[in-house]
Amino acid sequence: MNILIIGGGGREHSLAWAIAKSPLADKLYCAPGNAGMESLAERVRLDIADHGAVIGFCREKDIGYVVIGPEAPLVAGLADDLDKAGIESFGPGKAAAQLEGSKAFTKELCDRHNIPTAAYGRFDRLAPAADYVRRMGAPIVIKADGLAAGKGVTVAMSEAEAMAALEEIFAGRFGAAGAEVVIEEFLDGEEASFFALVDGRHVLALATAQDHKRVGDGDTGPNTGGMGAYSPAPVMSDEMCRRTLAEIVQPTVDGMAKEGIPYRGVLYAGLMIGAEGPKLIEYNVRFGDPECQVLMMRLKSDILELMLAASRGTLDQVSALWRDEVALTVVMAAAGYPGDYEKGSRILGLEAAENEAVTVFHAGTERRAGDIVASGGRVLNVTARGTNVEEARARAYAAIDRIDWPQGFCRRDIGWRALDREKTA
Ligand code: AMP
Ligand code: GLY
Repeated sequence: MNILIIGGGGREHSLAWAIAKSPLADKLYCAPGNAGMESLAERVRLDIADHGAVIGFCREKDIGYVVIGPEAPLVAGLADDLDKAGIESFGPGKAAAQLEGSKAFTKELCDRHNIPTAAYGRFDRLAPAADYVRRMGAPIVIKADGLAAGKGVTVAMSEAEAMAALEEIFAGRFGAAGAEVVIEEFLDGEEASFFALVDGRHVLALATAQDHKRVGDGDTGPNTGGMGAYSPAPVMSDEMCRRTLAEIVQPTVDGMAKEGIPYRGVLYAGLMIGAEGPKLIEYNVRFGDPECQVLMMRLKSDILELMLAASRGTLDQVSALWRDEVALTVVMAAAGYPGDYEKGSRILGLEAAENEAVTVFHAGTERRAGDIVASGGRVLNVTARGTNVEEARARAYAAIDRIDWPQGFCRRDIGWRALDREKTA
């Protein structure tokens, strides 16, 4: 079948790379894609927000399956509109995508189905929100309700910081996404991500990962979309994975089905692993970026077959096999990211960086007169496999050192927590 991949980041490059290996895949298209995806898929100019245009393209090119990478088109209901047009796709419909699109929706679902998560309050006015903060005290977490591109969350270590965040949200900094605020109990512990495929009823656990959200070494500086990741997450022991499935993921899937909004697609649970076990921080309704890149590096099974099973309700008939190796990815970003950065700088040495254990996924690149140039904030994901974190990390940084891009930067400590664990084990 012909396949259209929606999106153009490192996540979508790694999905295209994995899907291209499937015997079920014929021609791949991507919209908009990036320069790194050009050898795998034909890039097409499509306005993703124009669902009629996407459907028209699918009919014209005989697309049998649409893989929707990012959350925005899912929250906007692209999967529903494709479904109505008789076109199969990967990812939840608009109603189920509220698991990511609305923090309040997810919190209330957790309440109804006894899913462990932080205690919370929900407010649409400053005064009662401020009262709640004063009553609960710091540390406390303030979140704008809707999609705010990962920037709507403040983990406030003092009451003053919490008040400042509230004032900013109610002053309209996040537009409609900040019309409501969720205030949460601060969870202590170690963060990890758990990925599963879901077909409305059945759950197929994929793998775990951890990422680094801060821009600077030592997990300092402003938050980003993610500066690096590795899989598996050492904190996710077999027992912790079992508990996450039994206490969080399966009750969510059962609850959604019972409420008439069955979930299909990948479910990405952001967890805090504390003294009492796993608690849900948030759900995402798509693969993580750059977590997807490390998952695809480790997956031995045919990802397309697994995705189709999630779309068709047959996940109980497939299984996922993984390499018994660690994968680690380091993000190379344009200087200035996550603030203002320049576009258009030339990147050399990409071929020399790759080998059997190293793949460079592109996140924000374009081709200009035969050169690869940076076109985004996060630009490359240098991804390596190894027998342990130490080896995967050494390979990733050796590859980075072969890339000639003076305008780029990366963190030099990706995987530090897992590496510390490895060294003391
Ligand atoms: P979110 O957008 O909900 O994933 O939040 C972004 C980040 O804020 C998370 O990755 C955590 O590091 C942190 N965070 C969110 N909620 C909490 C919480 N209740 N307790 C502690 N940290 C949190
Ligand atoms: N890397 C975090 C995310 O994709 O949300």
